[in-house]
Amino acid sequence: MADTIRDASGTDSAGEDTGTERETGVHSTSTSTEVETRSEAPGTAVVRPDAIPNPGFPPERLRVTDLDPREEKKAERAVSLWFGLGIFGAIAAVAVYVAFPLGNGDPDVNRWTTFGIGMGIALGLLGIGFGAVHWSKSLMEGHDLVEQRHTTRGSEETRARAVEVFSLGNKESGFSRRKMIRNSMIAALVAFPLPGIVLFRGLAPREDPNELLKFTMWKKGTRLTRDPSGTPIKASEVTIGSAFHVIPEGLNETEDRLEEKAKAAVLLMRLRPQDLTISSGRESWSYDGIVAYSKICTHVGCPVALYEQQTHHLLCPCHQSQFDITREATVIFGPAKRPLPQLPIMVDDQGYLVARSDFREPVGPSFWERENS
Ligand code: FES
Repeated sequence: MADTIRDASGTDSAGEDTGTERETGVHSTSTSTEVETRSEAPGTAVVRPDAIPNPGFPPERLRVTDLDPREEKKAERAVSLWFGLGIFGAIAAVAVYVAFPLGNGDPDVNRWTTFGIGMGIALGLLGIGFGAVHWSKSLMEGHDLVEQRHTTRGSEETRARAVEVFSLGNKESGFSRRKMIRNSMIAALVAFPLPGIVLFRGLAPREDPNELLKFTMWKKGTRLTRDPSGTPIKASEVTIGSAFHVIPEGLNETEDRLEEKAKAAVLLMRLRPQDLTISSGRESWSYDGIVAYSKICTHVGCPVALYEQQTHHLLCPCHQSQFDITREATVIFGPAKRPLPQLPIMVDDQGYLVARSDFREPVGPSFWERENS
C-alpha cells in the first residue's frame, strides 16, 4: 500500500494513490462508517474521518418537462424559437451591412449601420445562448454524476516512453548535434516577429506622432468659440461660476475636424480672481478670473466635462480623476498623474477671448515621446 497520510478532504500528502483507495477513502459519496473502519486498519496509514459526513445527493426532482409530454413539446418549441431568433439576428446584421454600406461619408448612416450590425450580432448570439441554456435546463437529462479524480502523473512506463521518443526525435533531427542549424533556426524564430512589431508603426499617422500630439490648433490670436456652434465668446459673457465648452475658431471648417477637436477642446470657467492660486510665469495666462484648461483628461484622454461650481473641481467621468481649478487644475483625486494643461488667454480689442499661444505642453494622456524635443 503506497498511501501514508490522507487528510479529511482526501488529498494525499505522500505517496501514490490507487483507484481502489479512492473508492473507499475519498469517494464523495462514501459514508463516515466506511472511513472510520478504514482508519482502524493496521499499518502506518492515517485516515481522519470527515468532520461533516457527506450527505450524498438529494433525491432527483423531476421537471415538469419530464412528467408532461405537452410541456416537453412546449419547451422544444421555445428552444427552437430562441435559435430562430439567433438566425434572424445574423441575417439582419448581414442585411443592414449590405443595404446601408459603411464609409459613404454620412456620419448618421455610419452610426445607424454600425448600430444595426451590432444589434443583429447581439441578437444572433443571445438567441443561440438562451436557446442552449433553455435546452439544457428543460430538456437534457438532469441527473447528477460523480466523476472520480485521477492522478495526473503518467505511469513510469509512459514517462520513460516519452523520454525515449524525445531522444529519438533529437537524434534523428540532429537538433543537438547540428549546432549551426539549431542556432540559425532559433535566430530565425527570434527575427520572425520583428516585421510585426515594425508594422505597428503603420498604425500611426505618416507625420511625426510627437509633433501631432504636441501641438493643437490654438495659436496666438485664435478666438475661443462655443462648442459646437463656433460663435466667439466675449469676456463679459463669462459670468462668475459659469463654464463654457470651447473650440478654436475655424475648427468646424477644417478637414480633420474630429482629430483637431480631440486635441484642442477646452473648458472655460470664471472664478473670483482672489480664489485663483497662480504660479510664477502664469500671471498673464488668465483674464480677470477667467481661465481655460484642456478638456482632455491626462489619464487616458476622456473629456473632463463635469464642473462642480461650488468647489471649483473638474471631474472626469471615466475614472473619477478630479482637478482643482483654483490650483491650476492640480490632480486632487483619481488615477490622472498630471494637471490639465492651461491655455493662456487674453482679450482682443473687441472684447473677445483669444488664445495667447498654443498650450505650453502636450495635452491628454502621457505618450512615450512626450518629453522629447
Ligand atoms: S480618463 Fe479621466 S480619469 Fe481616466
